[in-house]
Amino acid sequence: MIDLTGKRAFVTGGTRGIGRATATLLERAGAAVAVTSRTQGGDLGDAPTAQRVVANAINELGGLDILVVNHGVWPADDVPLSKMSDAQWESTRRANLDAMFYICRAAIAQMSSGTIVLVSSTAGQRGEAYHADYAATKGAVISLTKSLAVELAPEITVNCVAPGWVDTEMSQPAFGMRDAGSGKRAIEATIPLGRIASADDVAGPIVFLCSPLARHITGEILNVNGGSVLCG
Ligand SMILES: NC(=O)c1ccc[n+]([C@@H]2O[C@H](COP(=O)([O-])OP(=O)(O)OC[C@H]3O[C@@H](n4cnc5c(N)ncnc54)[C@H](OP(=O)(O)O)[C@@H]3O)[C@@H](O)[C@H]2O)c1
Repeated sequence: MIDLTGKRAFVTGGTRGIGRATATLLERAGAAVAVTSRTQGGDLGDAPTAQRVVANAINELGGLDILVVNHGVWPADDVPLSKMSDAQWESTRRANLDAMFYICRAAIAQMSSGTIVLVSSTAGQRGEAYHADYAATKGAVISLTKSLAVELAPEITVNCVAPGWVDTEMSQPAFGMRDAGSGKRAIEATIPLGRIASADDVAGPIVFLCSPLARHITGEILNVNGGSVLCG
């Protein structure tokens, strides 16, 4: 049903977790896919690095039709804002928000048409106590989506996926792997659909938004959270 043959896609944070699942699904749909990660391409919170990484991807693919800005960090320790260091605030902002700006700016300059999907979080919709740095960046991603959607219409659609808890490396500390997964069971109890998403559960909606099936959708924040946060 979804055929992306001939489309060229770039996925940030595409080496593991949601990004890798998305890259794999885009490939299965026929797209040519380039990925980057901090280890492979460098820190996207650094503007010249982001510029170089985008240029390399476009060079490798021969152009760009689909951009998925998915990479991100979630500092796992609970830290009240009153005790949050400048270093933590800045490093989360650089990775999650500055990098998104740098990547989008560099890519848009090379895209005459196509689609962009940005990855936010339920934390950006409802906040996240003791993780205000993360929640603030993810809220900003939602505003960025809506701003860009109007700026880039009608040639380029811009949408956002807001996942709830997803079973990736990022969330393992919260799942309490060290206390026999009890954190995971407690989280599952808060999700109406009764389970934590897999990376594939999020990749599917991202690929849908990248596809012609979503051609009349732009500026959308798509909840992929098992019903845990119901935002319209
Ligand atoms: N997991 C969840 O429960 C959850 C929930 C809601 C939203 N999200 C969001 O979904 C997205 C993907 O999360 P995930 O769980 O798949 O994460 P993950 O498994 O921790 O993977 C993160 C990816 O992002 C890359 N990355 C991180 N910081 C980077 C930087 N400064 N520059 C370049 N690459 C960077 C990592 O590269 P390296 O491998 O080289 O470090 C890795 O490829 C994130 O935006 C996250 O905030 C996740």
